[in-house]
Amino acid sequence: MTGTPEAERPLSKVEVTGFEARHYDLLMNVLTLGTYPLFIRRVVRDLHIQPQDHILILGSGTGRNACLMARYLSPRGRILGLDIGEEMLAQAQRRCQKLPNVSFEKRRIEQPLPYDKEFDKVFISFVLHGFPQEERLRIVGNAWRALRAGSEFFILDYAPFEPARASWPVRMLFERLECPLAADFAQRDWPAILGEQGFGEFREHLYYLGVIRLLGAEKL
Ligand SMILES: C[S@@+](CC[C@H](N)C(=O)[O-])C[C@H]1O[C@@H](n2cnc3c(N)ncnc32)[C@H](O)[C@@H]1O
Repeated sequence: MTGTPEAERPLSKVEVTGFEARHYDLLMNVLTLGTYPLFIRRVVRDLHIQPQDHILILGSGTGRNACLMARYLSPRGRILGLDIGEEMLAQAQRRCQKLPNVSFEKRRIEQPLPYDKEFDKVFISFVLHGFPQEERLRIVGNAWRALRAGSEFFILDYAPFEPARASWPVRMLFERLECPLAADFAQRDWPAILGEQGFGEFREHLYYLGVIRLLGAEKL
């Protein structure tokens, strides 16, 4: 077998720092052959944001998603992004500085969060797969507490994936580039897991030939 030995590969790649953090958006554009801006616009459209929505973003990164979401809001709407990465937060703050209803805070999303039934949407993209399952469940619990009843939690991440059946580019992505936790994430039944945590009424949108899924789940 070639590539980095399993024992030397970091378990999680979602804590983005250094060069990768400073050029994160560019790297995503290159990795997706220039299709990322269109893709993420489509995702944000699929969230069905309402003008007065209060939106919590877990792992808000460079603020690209927050800025796109803000276009759908009236002055009464609000976005709060949480992230742990200094470089990611600095970019997000710079990018959204002219948007008075968008703010960012430095917080670890797997630790208890001080929000209780105050958001209409919670969004997490390309973050959840990077945690061990018990921490993922804590993040899901944080989302549940932060949401008002009847409002929605959105996970944008890898769609269900069967290593034996996947095409070679997808297998390459999981074997060589992604953290080992990503394959574990993609093999779990997320609607069933979310169902056990008090969510239901699922809806999903697939992108990139079904490799990426936006899973919407209502707080029951
Ligand atoms: C792969 S990036 C995705 C960024 C953004 N969600 C997007 O889709 O563009 C992962 C993000 O999660 C943040 N992150 C990683 N671990 C975190 C944690 N424990 N708490 C909060 N943010 C975290 C990283 O700093 C980074 O901004």
